Formats: sequence, C-alpha cells, structure tokens
Amino acid sequence: MIKKFYPSSLYTFLRFIQSNPAPKKILDCGAGGPDPKLALFYENGFETFGIDISDDQIKEAENFCMNKNIKLNIIKGDMRNIPFESRFFGYIYSYLSMVHLSKNGTAQAINEINRVLMDGGLCYLNFLSKDDKNFDEKEETKPGEVIHKHRYEESVHTYYDDDEPDDYFHNFKIIYKEKRVILEGKYFNTGRTCVLDYIVKK
Ligand SMILES: C[S@@+](CC[C@H](N)C(=O)[O-])C[C@H]1O[C@@H](n2cnc3c(N)ncnc32)[C@H](O)[C@@H]1O
Repeated sequence: MIKKFYPSSLYTFLRFIQSNPAPKKILDCGAGGPDPKLALFYENGFETFGIDISDDQIKEAENFCMNKNIKLNIIKGDMRNIPFESRFFGYIYSYLSMVHLSKNGTAQAINEINRVLMDGGLCYLNFLSKDDKNFDEKEETKPGEVIHKHRYEESVHTYYDDDEPDDYFHNFKIIYKEKRVILEGKYFNTGRTCVLDYIVKK
C-alpha cells in the first residue's frame, strides 16, 4: 500500500497527544471530503469519530474509506451543536473547517468543543490569518468575515489578527500557538498562505 502523508500541523498535534494521558478517542469537526485527516489518527490506533454538515463531503469520505477498507465513523452533524454527550472525547480537532464559521459561529463551536472534551483533553484548531493572500481580494461583510463561493455552496471565511483567537479560549489553557507564513507557494491543495494554529488543553 502507498503510504500517505498528512499536513505537518497534524503531526505536531500527535506529538502533544503522545505525552497526554487522555484516552485515544478523537473527533474531527468538518471531517468530510476526499482526503479525510482522521485516517492519520486511525493509523495511529485512535477510535475515530467525525462530523460534517455536507452530505456530499461525507459521501466523498465514505468513498475514501471504502477504497482503503477502513471505518472512520463520519456522520452528519454541525460543530455548533455537536451530536455527542458531554466529555465523550479525549481529543478534538478541526482542520481548515472551522474557518467556514462566522465569529459568532466559531464561539458557539468552541463552546460545544469545551462541552464534549474530557478534562485534560487536547484540542487543535486552525484559523485563517488576515495575512493570508486571499483576504486582500475579498470585501468584508463583518470585520474579518468574507463570503467565498466554493463547490459546496457559498460560505463565510473568517480571518483573524495575530492573537485574536486567544479570546475564544478562556476555558482552556493555550499550550501551543504558531503562525505559519508561506513566503513562496501555498499550502499544497489548500490555497492558503497564512494560518494560525492553536493547541489548547481543557
Ligand atoms: C475545506 S473543507 C476541509 C475538510 C477536511 N477537514 C480536510 O481537511 O480535508 C471544510 C469542511 O467543513 C465542513 N463544514 C463547514 N461548516 C461546518 C459545520 N458548521 N459543521 C460541520 N462541518 C462543517 C464542510 O462541509 C467541509 O467538508
């Protein structure tokens, strides 16, 4: 089988996880699409769960699972109202998916993550930086929020100043924060040039 490699920030998250005692039960918020990142955690022995708001994106992930003969447990769900009981997960992340929520929606989703994450659990989230080249090309509907047309309909993309997402994490301890600026090229197939990564502990 051809070995698949994943975005580097997911390996950074795994490195924090390896010295954390919470059970290896993980949720991906916005888990659908043809290249489900949950497969990396599956390969590393996690019990995986994912939610996605789009039937088409879930179908694409299901095709991936069928081809690889693996089961990632991706169901329909909105990360602003996570369909799992409180403190169910040891780990939660959202890879370039929460970027589709407004600032109010993001606050709601992080509130939900706080509810379904165990005490001592870790969460990895990334945010789009206002230094991302795409931000300059669009008109803001609200501060930091712009409308993008994508193949799974129109959606908001939300951009942040450095440190601005800190305000979402009053109930967590920020244990890692990184700003990744691409000086030449883009993040592979994401089209992104500047992202803010956060790993937080409950
Ligand atoms: C850019 S794609 C990234 C998908 C995947 N994380 C990856 O890296 O391949 C964003 C995903 O977020 C999902 N999404 C957007 N809003 C959502 C919400 N409120 N709740 C759950 N999923 C959402 C979209 O349907 C889409 O599948």
